[in-house]
Amino acid sequence: MTQDDPTQTRPRVLSGMRPTGALHLGHYHGALKNWLRLQATHDCFFFVADWHALTTAQPQDRAHLERHVYDMVIDWLAAGIDPAQTTLFIQSRMPEHAELFTLLAMSTPLSWLERIPSFKDQAGKSPDSTSYGLLGYPLLQAADILIYKAAAVPVGEDQAAHVEVTREVARRFNHLYGQGQPLLTEPQTLLTETARIAGLDGRKMSKSYGNAIAMRDAPEVTAEKIRTMPTDPQRARRGDPGEPQRCPVWPLHELYSDDATLEWAAQGCRSAGIGCLDCKQPLIQGIQRQQAEWRERADTYLANPKQVHWIVEVGTERARAVARKTLREVRAAMGLSY
Ligand code: TRP
Ligand code: SF4
Repeated sequence: MTQDDPTQTRPRVLSGMRPTGALHLGHYHGALKNWLRLQATHDCFFFVADWHALTTAQPQDRAHLERHVYDMVIDWLAAGIDPAQTTLFIQSRMPEHAELFTLLAMSTPLSWLERIPSFKDQAGKSPDSTSYGLLGYPLLQAADILIYKAAAVPVGEDQAAHVEVTREVARRFNHLYGQGQPLLTEPQTLLTETARIAGLDGRKMSKSYGNAIAMRDAPEVTAEKIRTMPTDPQRARRGDPGEPQRCPVWPLHELYSDDATLEWAAQGCRSAGIGCLDCKQPLIQGIQRQQAEWRERADTYLANPKQVHWIVEVGTERARAVARKTLREVRAAMGLSY
């Protein structure tokens, strides 16, 4: 980044995602859409949290990690994340995060990490598969955030506790080592409205439930998935009236259909004037249209993997410059600059 780069005066936001495989509509509407908005107005750092993925990955997942990392970056680019406006990088390429994590660990009370709900649940359920890495998960996340002095972190509700602990870690560090002025920035949480999109079985869309529509699913795959998606159970037969508010398909409809279509569908549903397959048709087309746009962008990157590696390379070096500077300050404040 050069000195007169306009992004330098924009507030910095940072967010990360674990590479768990092809992104789906839940990721797009729950996170990426928000990232797209932010990239126009903020200095955005978006990274692949591959270390965090190791805390939950099974050994068989690890064989696919590299593919998942690059598939995810391609999904970001396909959605319209612009590498010229944002800094894209990979966590494991930044040992600086691990150094800050170690330094922060020395002053973080164990109880702060033990009380994080995700840790408590896991430790309660299966203590034997609860790793030290999982306990450290939120602190590593704190290091990810604090090393860039991010002003804000766009995350879903499930991550809010982690950003909260990040604020506490920063506050404590500043208190212990700040010598009157805050060295680390307490980040704001930018809570993403997670329109809870239902998956194909009516539960929350999630890869682990196997109920997701991938951003790059083929048109016929999407059509089949929507066609077989459950609807309002009271519309068992075509002649029975239904209620869109009870229908798992409806939140998707609201995302993809214009007012007139929604009106037609709601009215047709309540009066039993249309069948569920009629109702789903415009939705299928809406999703397919968006997927076509994503696939088109993805295809240009898939045809040119070197370009994707280069984008990550540039982002990683950009991020590293910022991370190194913060670490120098932190080391000095802790009396470690010898
Ligand atoms: N824990 C986040 C998740 O699972 C990913 C993540 C890691 C992250 N480090 C971060 C998100 C820093 C925001 C900021 O979704
Ligand atoms: Fe759902 Fe549409 Fe069927 Fe009503 S008509 S139950 S909204 S799919």
